Amino acid sequence: MGIKVGIIGCGSIAKFRHAPEYQANPHVTELVFYDRNAARAKELALEFGGCYVETVDELINDPTITAISDCSSNEVHHIHTSNALLSGKHVLCEKPLAINVAFAEKMLEAERKSGKKLMIDHNQRFTKAHQKAKELLDQKELGEVLTFKTTFGHQGPEGWGVDKSNATWFFKKDRSYSGVAGDLGIHKIDLIHYLLDDEIDVVHAFHGALDKVDETGEKIEVCDNVVCALKTKRGRLGTASFSWTYYGAEDNSTTIYCEGGIIKIYQHPEAQLIIEKKDGTVIKYELEPIQTNENQTNTGVIDAFIDCIINDREPPVTGKQALACLKVIDQILGL
Ligand SMILES: NC(=O)c1ccc[n+]([C@@H]2O[C@H](COP(=O)([O-])OP(=O)(O)OC[C@H]3O[C@@H](n4cnc5c(N)ncnc54)[C@H](O)[C@@H]3O)[C@@H](O)[C@H]2O)c1
Repeated sequence: MGIKVGIIGCGSIAKFRHAPEYQANPHVTELVFYDRNAARAKELALEFGGCYVETVDELINDPTITAISDCSSNEVHHIHTSNALLSGKHVLCEKPLAINVAFAEKMLEAERKSGKKLMIDHNQRFTKAHQKAKELLDQKELGEVLTFKTTFGHQGPEGWGVDKSNATWFFKKDRSYSGVAGDLGIHKIDLIHYLLDDEIDVVHAFHGALDKVDETGEKIEVCDNVVCALKTKRGRLGTASFSWTYYGAEDNSTTIYCEGGIIKIYQHPEAQLIIEKKDGTVIKYELEPIQTNENQTNTGVIDAFIDCIINDREPPVTGKQALACLKVIDQILGL
């Protein structure tokens, strides 16, 4: 079955991940682009093949479109994604799911009412090193997980988004909602939930706008750094830090400390996953470097989304799981 896909929001994530990955998927036959800035939709239609429309309704009301990627900025996910679901489309929505829990719950209600699939782009789960870690943890190769440490940081979104300036929406409270917490932190919260088959329950956190300034030179309205201590429902303890001010190479590392040894992820340039066993044995896995803003390879997310449509499977990242992550972000921010 050929699938016609609509993309809402034609900025960086659409250009570097969604559009090329749909283009490469053998089941996707046609792409339709929409952005409220029509020039961006036109540009992607030219670059990836397909057409563009000038209103969101043209996309949502097109009966030949089966699936939609919502790649718009955070403050409108709940509108576009809910409308698309209720118009009978399957939706892959970018993270964070929404700018507040109430909006996110409405999206889940739209999913239930429509009977369509809602998947969220928590793409960290799909990387080869994280998949390998999941396999090792599920098989209890190193026994039970005791503690963990995770971080995600880079130089900030003002060099990534389509508007490359300090006026970026990522720095605005009403549009981003949660700064680096919802931008990078939510990826690692989801990853910990997934890897540990557990959920973060108690949070102690500090957050602040330490360094980033907006277009007027004022400190930004959202946090650029988070440091937190976490306790899961099953009693595991961990620490996490999320940053837009790591002014060197991106840090995407995680360490899982288990009864029988340690799993180190993305800490060595060649060996993306290293196991250090209690008896001194070290096993190095050379898998694949993680996608970074500079290194864009197939995330596997689009293929997984198309697969769950074709084979009528539950999406590998559900709205319910994304909502649980959003609630942790609220706790981190003390909301
Ligand atoms: N999964 C990931 O790893 C990842 C990485 C980066 C961004 N994201 C998420 O993807 C989304 C988009 O981020 P981006 O980096 O592409 O930002 P961006 O600023 O580069 O692009 C956003 C685009 O959305 C368009 N847009 C905004 N409001 C709209 C509306 N109401 N109707 C139509 N178009 C609208 C803008 O015109 C812009 O072209 C965000 O939610 C972000 O958090 C996810």
